[in-house]
Amino acid sequence: MSQLTISVRKFDAVIVGAGGAGLRAAIELSEAGLKTAVLSKVFPTRSHTVAAQGGVSASLGNSEEDHWLWHMYDTVKGADWLGDQDAIEFMCRKAPEAVVELEHFGMPFDRTDEGKIYQRPFGGHMSNFGEKPVRRACAAADRTGHAMLHALYQRNVRAQTQFFVEWMALDLIRDQDGEVLGVIAMEMETGELVAFHSKATIFATGGAGHVYYSSTNAFINTGDGLGMAARAGIPLEDMEFWQFHPTGVAGAGVLITEGVRGEGGILRNSDNERFMERYAPNAKDLASRDVVSRAMVTEINEGRGCGPHKDFVLLDLTHLDPATIMKRLPGIRDIAIQFAGVDPIKAPIPVVPTCHYQMGGIPTNYRGEVVEKDGSIVKGFYAAGEVACASVHGANRLGTNSLLDLLVFGKASGCSVVESVKANVVAHKELPPDFADRTLARLNRLNTQKGGANVNETRLDMQRTMQNHCGVFRFNDLLKEGVKKITEIEARVAQTEIGDKSSSWNTARTEALELDNLIEVAKSTMVSAEARKESRGAHVRDDAVDSEAHPNGRDDELWLKHSLWYREGNRMDYKPVILKPLTVETIALKTRAY
Ligand code: FUM
Repeated sequence: MSQLTISVRKFDAVIVGAGGAGLRAAIELSEAGLKTAVLSKVFPTRSHTVAAQGGVSASLGNSEEDHWLWHMYDTVKGADWLGDQDAIEFMCRKAPEAVVELEHFGMPFDRTDEGKIYQRPFGGHMSNFGEKPVRRACAAADRTGHAMLHALYQRNVRAQTQFFVEWMALDLIRDQDGEVLGVIAMEMETGELVAFHSKATIFATGGAGHVYYSSTNAFINTGDGLGMAARAGIPLEDMEFWQFHPTGVAGAGVLITEGVRGEGGILRNSDNERFMERYAPNAKDLASRDVVSRAMVTEINEGRGCGPHKDFVLLDLTHLDPATIMKRLPGIRDIAIQFAGVDPIKAPIPVVPTCHYQMGGIPTNYRGEVVEKDGSIVKGFYAAGEVACASVHGANRLGTNSLLDLLVFGKASGCSVVESVKANVVAHKELPPDFADRTLARLNRLNTQKGGANVNETRLDMQRTMQNHCGVFRFNDLLKEGVKKITEIEARVAQTEIGDKSSSWNTARTEALELDNLIEVAKSTMVSAEARKESRGAHVRDDAVDSEAHPNGRDDELWLKHSLWYREGNRMDYKPVILKPLTVETIALKTRAY
């Protein structure tokens, strides 16, 4: 590692993360002529968006009637009413435009016989306010994220966006007025440190699935944006809400798209029963993800799991026409053969719910601006995509709304930055004298620590604690114990040491720095989950009573509010959910059933 000196480079804007949200934002900035740096831990087209499979939602109505208001209704209901309805209206109204724009960027969507964008059914996508499933997920086979990321990257090449590949952002720079002035980042190969001094900073760092032991997420998804924000005094919103995707390959965690069920795949238990008919008589296998995941875990817990240990259920496609599998789900067939050893044309795939997506994150409004509890803006700071909480997903996200979120809010944050930078043509605000202190202290610790905790062991302990204490179902005593355990692990993280301090590739150092971020995610999740004494969406507690007054254990009188976790003092606070949409009537609270 080179000496701990930091050089300063000036940009109009810096974007951290080159997945879908970062790339979509970058297009706005570069095309507007702003001097923009995009930092990414990996080559942009290897960002985790590449792994998205089933589709991006938009009420195009290409195969049957659809409407953005129905999409909005499904999103509010999917979110168990915890989503902000202004942001949800904004996203659902913009969806058709966002998808068509992407098509014009060159995205190779599948086509219907008439040449329109192909759309498939997905969990929780219904027509006419919950009546029956509708085809709303716009797909490129089962490689939609791959196709999208490449289209966005190519558009950025055209716009001459400046990428810093294999650079990891370490800390946010915030001055005494709370204004954000950029980030400090490290080139991963050399350890070189640079302060990217900017007028605007957009976080698009994606998710943090590796806080759990079993996850569909890429190894890069270590909650870097959340860790940096928390250390800089920004609260994290609704961190108790994590989505477990129903169909991860058992034992491997790799995603099997919900598009499989959209194409007609069926979940079966050891009695060969299509058990979702009991849990969601209307939507069946296409109920919302949290509903399906809980049904699967219940089947397994009640002894109807499959295999020698009765610890998975089966996703059956064998009744589908092999031509459909080859045309619409070729990647899934490869994954099933590689990771489960079964050809889904001939045999069902063993699946279990697996950590997939965080609904919470850095609080933003629908313009992508980071907001304080009272709605005031954190100057110079923006976030979009999975790291942000706009909040359109509330307590549970609908499948394919993630790709939509990153397109709509990636663009919105980019537009907000362009507007702000162009309206304030002033020099960069001066960096505070102590801007690098926190980062240098962390790096110095890693360079000198002896006899400290091992990074891999500590991370594994954290992941197992999260998996066992804060999973699909939550138990009061386990959550309380989980808070204690995570607090102990946090103390170990503060003392981690890296073995080979001279390693030129810096892998060990990078992993230790990533763990600094993951632990903030773990702690905020466990503390927020322990604090929320109700069941809502993906957060289901054993002690929340299902009664007439509180169907499914949801308590709107006490808990229809967003959680805010502050790192400082490990403090919880709350703020109201925005129930008023931008132009239409509020979607009124009701019991959520599929
Ligand atoms: O099942 C899937 O294809 C995943 C989609 C999503 O998370 O939105």
